Amino acid sequence: MITEQEFQRIAVFVKNQYGINLAGKQILVNGRLKNYLLRNGYSGYDEYMSKVEADPFGEAARSLVNALTTNHTYFMREFEHFEYMRRVILPQLKASEAATRDLRIWSAASSTGEEPYTIAMVLKDFFGMEHRLWDTKVLATDLSTKVLQHAQRGVYLGEQIEPLPEKWRRRYFKQINELEYQVRQELKDEVLFRQFNLMNPLPFRKPLHIVFLRNVMIYFDEKTKLALLNRIYDKIAPGGYLFVGTTESVDRRGTPFQYIEPSIYRKEKG
Ligand SMILES: C[S@@+](CC[C@H](N)C(=O)[O-])C[C@H]1O[C@@H](n2cnc3c(N)ncnc32)[C@H](O)[C@@H]1O
Repeated sequence: MITEQEFQRIAVFVKNQYGINLAGKQILVNGRLKNYLLRNGYSGYDEYMSKVEADPFGEAARSLVNALTTNHTYFMREFEHFEYMRRVILPQLKASEAATRDLRIWSAASSTGEEPYTIAMVLKDFFGMEHRLWDTKVLATDLSTKVLQHAQRGVYLGEQIEPLPEKWRRRYFKQINELEYQVRQELKDEVLFRQFNLMNPLPFRKPLHIVFLRNVMIYFDEKTKLALLNRIYDKIAPGGYLFVGTTESVDRRGTPFQYIEPSIYRKEKG
């Protein structure tokens, strides 16, 4: 079992580096890490954490992120957001960005890729024949390198792509064996995957039109959440949108976001 002191050392590191709040999660932490430690010959948590702290970008730290993040996601999750994007936001952007034809959309905790690939399919569907005239490439980032590798391979079980409309499954996936399907290159080209820690300064030079920040703030405490939302607000274009998970909310006293409907927010048009 993990001692209170060992647990605290991990919890403090994970909170400081990644914003993730592990309070009260001793059993989960021990359950997810003990086999990794055994397999990799560590004498215990202290030896492991010394390695992690000595090289926060090394293999040991990566394994910590991969073990402790929760990456559950699925195609078409919270479909009302994609519907709202298609019905309300994209017609607005198509008109307002007609001169540059450049849309900047960010999936900020993209996990294994289901979210950004769904966004890319909505975009292709919306623009149809005109799509090739637009740059709508979606930026997809996550802290965990493991989920990003999965996303870039783009291989999913048949049952995972089941929620997608038949038309999209046929057009954007090819069956590679009895059980699995792979995202076709045509769709892969529409998503750029990068590793990014949301605790770091946001690297955007040009303002973003739509940000998906869904089902990730649940792991952060209130202060971390508010600070992140304010940093994101600064990077959103006037009139741009933010989606959060449908069970999450944005404290409007702590950020300037305008409430549109549950889990959908907007930056003032300016
Ligand atoms: C539950 S998934 C959400 C996936 C998708 N957005 C959705 O709603 O289905 C949460 C993701 O947040 C990522 N994450 C956690 N802390 C992060 C951080 N500090 N920076 C970037 N990503 C983080 C995790 O690695 C995980 O893949």
